[in-house]
Amino acid sequence: MADSATSTNPLPRHVAVIMDGNGRWARERGEDRVFGHANGVDSVRAVVRAAGELGVEYLTLYAFSTENWSRPKEEINALMELLVSSLAGEVDELIAQGVRLRSVGALDSLPEACREALGDVEARTAVCTGLTLILALSYSGRWEITEAVRDIVRSGMAADDIDEDTLRNCMGLPDVPDPELLIRTSGEQRLSNFLLWQLAYSELHFTPVMWPDFREDHFRAAVHEFRGRERRFGRTGEQLRHAQNAGN
Ligand code: FPP
Repeated sequence: MADSATSTNPLPRHVAVIMDGNGRWARERGEDRVFGHANGVDSVRAVVRAAGELGVEYLTLYAFSTENWSRPKEEINALMELLVSSLAGEVDELIAQGVRLRSVGALDSLPEACREALGDVEARTAVCTGLTLILALSYSGRWEITEAVRDIVRSGMAADDIDEDTLRNCMGLPDVPDPELLIRTSGEQRLSNFLLWQLAYSELHFTPVMWPDFREDHFRAAVHEFRGRERRFGRTGEQLRHAQNAGN
């Protein structure tokens, strides 16, 4: 594991994950796609534990995208049922680990059982002060930006008064810092409409590991690799080293 002597970056406060490859993982085993999603829950459990142990403050998981509504009805129903059963089954462990649950997305479009389970676990974990686990559900980055623009227009704000902070404050969870690191499993290398505003300066980590095989060690390795990267934010390498030497 990276230590402060060998690391360029501090531990990321916020890690976002595109959990991809469940369907292929299941098909490779001659199983239904839903089998892959069910096994993906073990990976969720592992990554939540690893993030909490490392001291990551926020972990956002892309659990169901706006585009996922176009999947076969049986798969959508199975995913929603899996979400409800996982939330009910894991809530005590989340509390034991000090994990607070939050969610982002067009939650009104979720089945009632899902909304109830989410509301219940969010309420029961609201006092937890460890990792904040954020589930992105019925979510897409373009949806979130569109909603933000609608809010601004409804507020009657003058165009010249709108700046980046205005937009930022109208995002789904404005108090949550942008992810420093995005992980995507399964070898795909794209953002798929995830956190388009918030990922502007994130480091991207793509791994060929399928989500149901992704475990604590993979997560720790991704964080370790992130810590060794040079993040310049538009500055030259010389400016960056000067700023590091000056402690900022
Ligand atoms: C992408 O794999 C995965 C999803 C669309 C759903 C992720 C859901 C889970 C891991 C289970 C439930 C989650 C929680 C938080 C309890 P894919 O189906 O697109 O895989 P493929 O690209 O191989 O087809």
